[in-house]
Amino acid sequence: MRNTIKAAAAWATSTLALTAASTWLVAAYAQDAKGGAAKPDANKGQQIVTQVCAACHGADGNSTSPVNPKLAAQHPDYLLKQLKDFKAEGGKPAERVNAVMAAFAQPLSEADMRNVSAYYSSQKLKPAFAKLKDSVELGQKIYRGGIASKAVPACSGCHSPNGAGIPAQFPRLAGQYADYTEAQLVLFRQGGRKNSPQMTAIAARMSDAEIKAVADYVAGLR
Ligand code: HEC
Ligand code: HEC
Repeated sequence: MRNTIKAAAAWATSTLALTAASTWLVAAYAQDAKGGAAKPDANKGQQIVTQVCAACHGADGNSTSPVNPKLAAQHPDYLLKQLKDFKAEGGKPAERVNAVMAAFAQPLSEADMRNVSAYYSSQKLKPAFAKLKDSVELGQKIYRGGIASKAVPACSGCHSPNGAGIPAQFPRLAGQYADYTEAQLVLFRQGGRKNSPQMTAIAARMSDAEIKAVADYVAGLR
């Protein structure tokens, strides 16, 4: 008798859970169909940016310190992917390890992430500049043609000839601070940034001087 009651209770609970889940699913689909839930809201994104992110990335995504990347005019899907990669979820370690950004990505919901990405990507980039006259030629050569002897492919093949990138897969590099770009290439090479097997393989074959030259060159790309 006890067992029957227990089984009935379990059945009732699971049915309730299923009903709740399907009601939720129907609601989610209905909202999706209206475009309500799925569409990012740049205004809501701007509120988060003003309160939290602006101190480092600028209110309009043009950070004033070369340590903090510029986010203006970056592709929204790329920004979203980075925020997810910074956030450690379900007990899995983050794929892009950075203590500062881990702390700021952790409290964001997926909707928040979509909203801030929509906001920053809609802002106008105030590009950085190249500074190293002596390595411009090397930087340009690598960017346009790669390094044949080391099987390093041309950056332009994925990041586009003018460095604007190709949405949604390949991020913009043009106008980014050289210091930040250099730091990322070194992180890919060392394995500190593990969220792109492609970039890890490429950076692994590059010397410090090659990384520095191409990072400076892309800062000046328009
Ligand atoms: C205290 C400074 C600070 C704050 C505040 C901050 N960030 Fe960052 N952010 C950084 C730094 C530093 C990096 C570079 C991390 C690295 O080297 O991997 C970064 C990287 C990023 C990137 C990756 C950019 C790229 O080109 O790959 C995104 C996206 C980003 N931040 C979004 C945000 C958002 C959204 C907020 C607000 C919720 C925020 N950040 C708040 C310092 C900050
Ligand atoms: C086969 C395609 C491919 C090629 C070739 C390539 N990249 Fe990338 N690169 C990517 C992808 C994909 C990402 C995004 C990784 C991610 O999701 O985090 C990326 C990201 C980057 C980033 C990080 C940008 C940021 O805002 O943090 C830098 C810097 C970069 N690439 C530099 C280069 C340079 C320099 C070259 C040439 C030596 C190059 N890439 C060649 C595919 C490529």
